Amino acid sequence: MGDPVLVDLLTWLHIFSVVGWFGAALVFMMVIEPALPKLSPQTNGELVLKVFPRFVRFVEIFASLALIFGISLALALSNGDLRLFGLGSMSGLYVTIGASFGLATYLLVFLLLGPSVMALGRLVVQMKQNPQQPPPPQFQSVQERLKFGAPTAVLLLSLAMAFMVAAAGTGL
Ligand code: HEM
Repeated sequence: MGDPVLVDLLTWLHIFSVVGWFGAALVFMMVIEPALPKLSPQTNGELVLKVFPRFVRFVEIFASLALIFGISLALALSNGDLRLFGLGSMSGLYVTIGASFGLATYLLVFLLLGPSVMALGRLVVQMKQNPQQPPPPQFQSVQERLKFGAPTAVLLLSLAMAFMVAAAGTGL
């Protein structure tokens, strides 16, 4: 194992970033998303336009930090020799599986969830400009992508966390 102070610091930073990322995903799935259909169109529009872009940026920053500090922690634990995280050891296997779930969620955030939220914002602006017209067809599909994406992210992050905790339990 590398410098214990550096390992402790990176573990703290990694877990802090994970808390921000995972916490945001849970709050979105359990609090924000179910409340959206109950809000007035006015409030809905304000939320999508003024809060969601900030929310997406928050998730993207914390997700990136979680990955950066996770990789730095792996480097610090192994003194730069990532072969120690090879699939031959239990700990290496668990970290690799956990990191793969983390990476899959990261791609989901950047390729599906973030763009969907931004698209929703653009559609809401369009709908506000043409209030007499019915919602465009993309409106439904973007909402469905968000409905599928948020619980998938929570499931993948739960699996990532389970494997990470198991890895720490087995020791490098
Ligand atoms: C590229 C992605 C990631 C990498 C490279 C990574 C790497 C690591 C490493 C090397 C450890 C230390 C394991 C040990 O002590 O043997 C760790 C711990 C941990 N990771 Fe990750 N991680 C990643 C993503 C994630 C994600 C997505 C989550 C949660 C959703 C997560 C949650 C944790 C937790 C909670 C610990 C502390 C476990 C404990 O001390 O009990 N990690 N991570």
